[in-house]
Amino acid sequence: PATAAQAGGPSSHGSGSSFHEMWRDLAPLGRDARSGGYRRYAWTAADADCRAWFRTQAEARGLTCEVDRNGNQWAWLGDPLAGDAVVTGSHLDSVPDGGAFDGPLGVVSSFAALDELRRRGAEFVKPLAVTNFGDEEGARFGLACAGSRLAAGQLSRERAHRLRDGDGTSLPQAMAAAGHDPDAIGPDPERLARIGAFVELHVEQGRALDLSGDPVGIASAIWPHGRWRFDFGGEANHAGTTRLADRRDPMLTYAETVLAARREAELAGALATFGKITVEPNGVNAIPSLVRGWLDSRAADQATLDTVVAGIERAARDHAQRAGIDLDVVRESFTPVVEFAHTLRDEIAETLARRPSRDTGRAVPVLSTGAGHDAGILSASVPTAMLFVRNPTGISHSPAEYAAEDDCVAGVIALADVLEGLACR
Ligand code: GLV
Ligand code: MN
Ligand code: MN
Ligand code: MN
Repeated sequence: PATAAQAGGPSSHGSGSSFHEMWRDLAPLGRDARSGGYRRYAWTAADADCRAWFRTQAEARGLTCEVDRNGNQWAWLGDPLAGDAVVTGSHLDSVPDGGAFDGPLGVVSSFAALDELRRRGAEFVKPLAVTNFGDEEGARFGLACAGSRLAAGQLSRERAHRLRDGDGTSLPQAMAAAGHDPDAIGPDPERLARIGAFVELHVEQGRALDLSGDPVGIASAIWPHGRWRFDFGGEANHAGTTRLADRRDPMLTYAETVLAARREAELAGALATFGKITVEPNGVNAIPSLVRGWLDSRAADQATLDTVVAGIERAARDHAQRAGIDLDVVRESFTPVVEFAHTLRDEIAETLARRPSRDTGRAVPVLSTGAGHDAGILSASVPTAMLFVRNPTGISHSPAEYAAEDDCVAGVIALADVLEGLACR
């Protein structure tokens, strides 16, 4: 799959060249040779490689690099304790077979924006930090935005300590193996109180900017969303000898539930996805004893989301009862609707509208998204904003995810303009 580094673009442009070099160095880390997608899961060797890359970038720029109690990385220009800091960044971990841009684009653009500001000779009057939040995707332990949730007090240490990956390794075990003290994790209100503004740049995960013809947009809100685990319990038996009428097959009930999810989402104008499933004993010639499926559901408002999930659960229970299947439904995570800070958003819109490079005569588009972000978690504690960079196909969470290098550089310049307005004289 094409990457921004491979795509043509203004790599000789100042901001383009620092972007290009970082992109090239980061590109091979954690990439699966067969699919071309990324498997950068929290606290694995690939994650450690990405963290080392972050440290190298910070040190090359004379920034002070630290890891906070929850494993998030910070690269500071100026005094971290001074307060009213301007913070920018995103995440480096990925979903299974993720694209190159979801997360890394924000981190690379943050360093490149700092380079751009230095080239401009900008005078910083506030501390500035670039961040890499840990375990944003929740691909390994099932809970998205674990690093920012812990910091913001939206995930307790007790609950985090109970998280396990698919192999049964607990989060504390994985952290300790990677050299991070799992007993240190927990709320970090003093750190968050020293942040005056957080800005996350992210590749758009949809085609709104492509349709409007704009390289960069501003986020207005994140839809409420969550993850629910459905455990369908049946009876393992021989596939070649058990009469259909005698079976208690949880796969059938699971399949009915997937169809119900699609129907409920369509009726409500919402989204519902079963994208992960485990089967026991997982043998071709055995009727399953257990099918475990994870529902991801999202909607523009809370009431709609509640209706959709309740409808799916009701359908699952009806089918389970008729088929003699045991059913457990557990809500594993939930993020309420996020409205980004209006004052900060308006300030950013004004900054971007004033730029000499913008001669379109139109306002920068403002869009909502169904994707979760660390910015959404932090927005409960800190004035927070997001910039989106055009994604011409809208594809994300896939190796085919893409953004053109010209648009990435436009994102860097926009972020630099925003940071200059917030942190510089
Ligand atoms: C994370 O990217 C999510 O929105 O699920
Ligand atoms: Mn993602
Ligand atoms: Mn992301
Ligand atoms: Mn996300």
